[in-house]
Amino acid sequence: QIFFKPIQNTSPPSPTKRHTKISVIGTGNVGMAIAQTILTQDLADELALVDAIPDKLRGEMLDLQHAAAFLPRTKILASTDYSVTVGSDLCIVTAGARQIAGESRLNLLQRNVTMFQGIIPPLARYSPDAILMIVSNPVDVLTYVAWKLSGFPSNRVIGSGTNLDSSRFRFLIADHVDVNAQDVQAYIVGEHGDSSVALWSSISVGGVPVLSFLEKQQIPYEKDALEKIHKAVVESAYEVISLKGYTSWAIGYSAANLARSILRDQRKIHPVSVLANGFYGIGDGDVFLSLPAQLGRGGVLGVTNVHLTDEEAQRLRNSAKTISEVQNQLGL
Ligand code: NAD
Ligand code: LAC
Repeated sequence: QIFFKPIQNTSPPSPTKRHTKISVIGTGNVGMAIAQTILTQDLADELALVDAIPDKLRGEMLDLQHAAAFLPRTKILASTDYSVTVGSDLCIVTAGARQIAGESRLNLLQRNVTMFQGIIPPLARYSPDAILMIVSNPVDVLTYVAWKLSGFPSNRVIGSGTNLDSSRFRFLIADHVDVNAQDVQAYIVGEHGDSSVALWSSISVGGVPVLSFLEKQQIPYEKDALEKIHKAVVESAYEVISLKGYTSWAIGYSAANLARSILRDQRKIHPVSVLANGFYGIGDGDVFLSLPAQLGRGGVLGVTNVHLTDEEAQRLRNSAKTISEVQNQLGL
């Protein structure tokens, strides 16, 4: 009931821009980092939060609502019931077990698959036209699981994948050569995890292709030094988890960066987990892993043909094999 009407209307309500709704499932460290980045970046008109713990969920909703005076206007809802997500344009799934120090992402699989069986079907029912973005780990296998459980076409099921690893990679290269990370183009592809692949052959800084520049100038570089940077990327999450218990801020920005490209139809290229069979000689079975993909309002619009060396292509196929082997144990 409105008890006070501060504005005397002088014209009918103006037609507003298209209403955008994002749902975030799981309001732990990662879900809340994503939610707060979505709010500060003004990416949605409506934000629905879902979690299994009602008090924590309501507390998180109220805490965000209390920032309304400092943020772009967004209606924030929360419920343990999936009806709150109805009509979402984008559903971001972060619910699930996370690693303890030293544990691998793949170790979380069975617990999180069981959880997904209760999460994905109602999400798909309430928002049949939505795009699903999976963040929970192991993200590549769970993106496959979400694709199977939702019945959605593969272009509308995306895993946040190595968009985050690539940001870590760009940060480390930028730090090494003292430039802005946004001027470094560099991709990590494959599994978001231990078998990821660094595409050294396609790195450029400010438009200068790095390895071919060094080769043309006959500047020697140590392959070991390159391997060390990739190793540091792979170990990044383990290091943060051993220090603070979980990772949150970087994945918050990474997921919001993907949400922007999708919902604003930016058609930007991101390394994200997509249905990968057929690309780069990746074999028969259905497998999701990260490849540089163009994202827009329709979800995955295409996969780019980056030039890979034979060694990079082989490593990518090995990464696909690692994921397939884990996936085959699921019997989905
Ligand atoms: P967290 O423990 O802080 O939060 C998990 C949340 O999920 C909790 O709030 C819990 O109540 C909720 N939850 C549990 N079961 C649920 C259910 N059935 N329905 C709805 N909500 C449920 O964990 P976190 O640190 O936020 O991590 C969440 C997931 O994200 C983990 O799997 C973690 O490995 C993953 N992660 C992925 C990336 C990536 O790059 N893909 C990065 C960081 C973390
Ligand atoms: C990450 C999580 C743990 O931050 O997958 O890479």
